[in-house]
Formats: sequence, C-alpha cells, structure tokens
Amino acid sequence: MTVAPVSSEVPAILGGSPVRQTLLPYGRQSIDESDIQAVVETLRSDWLTTGPKVAEFEDAMAGWVGAKYAVSFSSGTAALHAAAFATGLQSGDEAITSPLTFAATANCVLYQGAMPVFADVLEDTLNLDHEQVATRITARTKAILPVDYAGHPAELDSILQLADRHGLIVIEDACHALGAEYRGRRVGSVAHMTVFSFHPVKHLTTGEGGMVTTDNPVFAETLRRFRNHGISSDARQRQRAGQWHYEMVLLGFNYRLTDIACALGLQQIKKLEANLERRRQIAAQYASEFRCMASVVAPVVGPEVNPAWHLFPIRLDLPRLSAGRGELFQALRAENIGVNVHYIPVHRHPYYHDRFGYKGGEFPVAEAAYERLISLPMFHGMSDNDVEDVVCAVRKVVGHYAN
Ligand SMILES: Cc1ncc(COP(=O)(O)O)c(C=O)c1O
Repeated sequence: MTVAPVSSEVPAILGGSPVRQTLLPYGRQSIDESDIQAVVETLRSDWLTTGPKVAEFEDAMAGWVGAKYAVSFSSGTAALHAAAFATGLQSGDEAITSPLTFAATANCVLYQGAMPVFADVLEDTLNLDHEQVATRITARTKAILPVDYAGHPAELDSILQLADRHGLIVIEDACHALGAEYRGRRVGSVAHMTVFSFHPVKHLTTGEGGMVTTDNPVFAETLRRFRNHGISSDARQRQRAGQWHYEMVLLGFNYRLTDIACALGLQQIKKLEANLERRRQIAAQYASEFRCMASVVAPVVGPEVNPAWHLFPIRLDLPRLSAGRGELFQALRAENIGVNVHYIPVHRHPYYHDRFGYKGGEFPVAEAAYERLISLPMFHGMSDNDVEDVVCAVRKVVGHYAN
C-alpha cells in the first residue's frame, strides 16, 4: 500500500475536504448469508434458548481456545460477574485490576460486594503491571483480574506465579483478546478463568454475548448454575430426563445466551481465523505507516505474544504537536474517521471518584497514557481503501498540527 503525503491539505475541520465522504466506524461486525441462514434455521427450530446450539457453541469455543470447559453468558459483563461469583468474592474481599479498562472489569467485583483495588499499568503494553500488583496484595485479596488491553495478552505467567504464591484466583478479562496467543498458548487456556465478549465490535459476535473458559470443573458447574438462577439443571436437561423437579441451590441470575445467538456464534467462529488474520494484516500496515511519523506511537508488541488486535490505540507525542488529543480527535472525526478513546481510567469515572474518593493522579502511567490515546478504526471487515483512508487522515491531521 502506498499512501501519498497529504500534510499540506487543509483539514476538514478547518474547511478542507474530508478524506472520506462517509464515516468509517472504529469497529463493526461482519455478517454474511451463512450467519443469517443459521439464525433463521434456529428461529424455525424447537429451541430458541438453552437448546442444542448453546452446548455446540460452548464446545466449539472450548475446543478453539484449548480449555476443558466453556460456559456462555448473555454478555461479557454477565460472564465477568459469574467469574467473580465463582471465585467466591464477597464483602470484605479485594480484587486487583487495571484502571485502563472498560468499567465492567472492576464493576463485577462491586457486584459481589467486594472492593476493586487498582494497580497501575506497564508503560509499553498498557497491561497490568505485575510488580505493582504485588505491592497491592493484602490479607483480603482473593483475585487478580488482568485485562488484555487492545488484544495484547497481559503478563500472565508473572501474574499466575504471584497468584499461586498468595492463593489467589486469576480472572483474565480477555474481552479484547479472543484469538490472542501467549507463549504458544491461546488466551482462554492460561488463566484460572478467562472471560470473552461477543459484542459486535469483537472478533466474533452473537449480538450481545460472553463466555468464560476454564479447566476447573467446580468453576464450570458454578458458572452454569449462576447464569440460570442458581438452578441445578436447565430446561433441556429436564425435558430429556422427563422430569419437572429442579432445585435452586444458589442465588443466581438469568444470564443465559439464547440458541439464536449461539447459532450465530457457531457460524462466526468458523471465520475467526480469517478475521484474526485480517486484523493482523491491518495492524502490520498501520505499524509500518506510522513508524515514520514522529508524533504517533503505535502499540508495542511484547515478545512471545501474538495479539488479537481488537483495537489499534495510538499514543500521540503531544509535545511535538500544537494541539491536544481532543482537537486531534475532532479533526479526525471531521475527516470521517470514527476514532474513539479507550479508556477513561475507571477510577476517574464519577461513580468511582465519588464513592471511593479517588482524586486523580493515583495511577500515573494509566492516566498519562489516557491523555494521549486515540483508537483508530480496527475491524476485520475493513478494506484496503479504508486502511488507506485512516493513514491519510492521520498523516493529514498530524501533519497540520506538527510543531
Ligand atoms: C475489557 C472489557 N471488559 C468487559 C467488557 C464487557 O463486555 P460486554 O459488552 O460483552 O458486556 C468489555 C466490552 O467491550 C470490555 O472491553
């Protein structure tokens, strides 16, 4: 791909013509005829929820990531909640996580009445800093929730070693990282429990949906019960056994994923390898284009990992620019590039700020990164022209504001 330098052009925000006429979103689903057919077939079948497609999709996911069990949920958030429950988190307990994540990672700890404790992130990958985690462990700590930020696996071996030493459970938030590899192993087969999301911007979608993978049969059983009101059998098991009797053995929720959604997931998983391959191509194109732009820092890839590239968050070198992140963000939007920001650090949201008294400045690496981050469009359905448009727009906007 060759992209002509366009830095002399007037940015659209200042009255120039935009790089493209229609908005390119930062992420979106790809749905083809086979997906639509699979959903239609399920709509015509006997089971709309908790039927054969749920078990088939769970088996496919467990097989794909290399875990013994996979338990589906109505969202990644529900899956996180269930994993926090299965860990036994309760009032008086603490769980350590990253501030640079979607709020759901920390919220699931609060759902259980426990306390999320943040540790700062590493400067390079923006993943949880295991040395910082070590300093936050107390007698109350029960779990660590590393986040595979943007699809780059966290420092799982170091975190698991730390967890082993202190008897903690590691719940990996891999909502960005389906398909990522860590030291030759697929994410989903490494931590005690790994949580995925199937939101439409993810590597595969079921509309809304989530999954926990684990090798632990007790966790798997608890997760299954938790998503079904705490009931020890599901409707299909009872129908097959010809029995009506069931028992509610714990306080659960209705967090079930439907057969309709799982039928879609089963088609989508067939395309996962190709989707990942396309995301990796796009990431490589971006990285090679941005290498020569001094004010743009592309994401760092650590040794022995293969990221899944849910996001492509660049960091701006602000001292080299005459405008801040906000202005560059608006300028890119005016070019019809649907940029985004991931994330406002969780402790800076009003709820966390007001409830726990965070003032800002507690996690300097995450907070400094946040001020410079812009997520560029990254999804497997992007065409080469889309990628070219993004590079053109970044070059144009950054070129205009360069000092
Ligand atoms: C890191 C992270 N954790 C959890 C979630 C929650 O997933 P869901 O939207 O499926 O509830 C998301 C959603 O994007 C996420 O990015």
